[in-house]
Amino acid sequence: MTTRRLVLTRSAAVIGAASSGLLLPQLVQAQSNKVRVGFMLPYTGTFAQLGVAIENGFRMALNEQGGKLGGREVEFFKVDDESNPAKGIENAQRLVQRDRVDVLVGTVHSGVQMGIHRVARDTGVLSLIPNAGVHAATRALCAPNVFRTSFTNSQPTLALGKAMVERGHKKAVWITWNYAAGEEAYEGFEQSYTAAGGTIVKKLGLPFPNVEFQALLTEIAALKPDAVACFFAGGGAAKFLRDFHAAGLHKTIQLYGSGFLTEGVLEAAGEAANGVLTTMHYSDSLDTPRNKKFRLEYAKAFKMQPDVYAVQGYDTGLLLVQGANKVKGDLSNKKDLYAALEGAVIDSPRGKWTMSKAHNPVQDIYLRKVDNKENKVIGIAQKAVADPATGCKMA
Ligand code: PHB
Repeated sequence: MTTRRLVLTRSAAVIGAASSGLLLPQLVQAQSNKVRVGFMLPYTGTFAQLGVAIENGFRMALNEQGGKLGGREVEFFKVDDESNPAKGIENAQRLVQRDRVDVLVGTVHSGVQMGIHRVARDTGVLSLIPNAGVHAATRALCAPNVFRTSFTNSQPTLALGKAMVERGHKKAVWITWNYAAGEEAYEGFEQSYTAAGGTIVKKLGLPFPNVEFQALLTEIAALKPDAVACFFAGGGAAKFLRDFHAAGLHKTIQLYGSGFLTEGVLEAAGEAANGVLTTMHYSDSLDTPRNKKFRLEYAKAFKMQPDVYAVQGYDTGLLLVQGANKVKGDLSNKKDLYAALEGAVIDSPRGKWTMSKAHNPVQDIYLRKVDNKENKVIGIAQKAVADPATGCKMA
């Protein structure tokens, strides 16, 4: 009781002092002592599980540091972006202007990312991208305060075409959601598949986040390609796998995907995912002490299996920890902070990776096959894949 009254009295005094312009420097110091981290992620909708996995991974990296960043306590702020691009700018502004975050961690959806990116460029807030692969963020619109720990949308599919043709699948249909991530994943697929000698017989699409696949699957059956390649993720990916299987297409057509297709959905898709081949910068089965330790500890902490999104969230935490330690928690020292982030080597469960000059990971892309609810590595589809960073003035 006494403690509570004391706290109330003190905060009332702070408010009084603030409104009369008499805020004491040590009180300002005490109030701003925590690093303010804002999560702008999807917590509802088709990408809800992706947002949760990213937050879990990020928190895990900080917990390994006693929950601190460069010796400072951390305070978290959260916004559910609903994967809704129309609210992207407004949601990012809430975190930056209302909550005054020092760093904005987000998001999953490429369209929403463009809203965050606009706010990051306008305000100079440190923006860490734990998933969304939209090309512009590390190409023409690259920025000194924006760092991505995930991929560009075409990075996984740039390694897909050769693997398909090598398996004798020379005639393919492409299918995706019609938005930036799907379009840009197609760009990598088209380039790698045609260069390897494959022919794309049809490009199919539906609006995000629709999952009415029946008419399109009927069209695929009539086209009789050797293979289908696609970009889907989250709840929509699980539904696509199930529908493709239920239509019996898996019997005659090999299904390939940008690896998100089989991330975080293996329980939900069950047997329908078996045998699906994908390219991705991570695999559950990477046989390294680093990955095994990460998987064990993540499962212990969150009572669920990690996926690529958990790894990306974790790596975002590792990156920020490295930067914050370098500047001893003074995130306002942007010059040294950004230099540390640029030079970081991330000892990730996916394997060690470095940051390109445009602030995107340079990383190996694995070829994986789903086997008994696991993404098993078959080999490295392409080593040290770097995004071309087209138009980035910093690169
Ligand atoms: C994207 O919109 O950039 C996106 C979304 C989900 C993924 C990958 C990329 O799994």
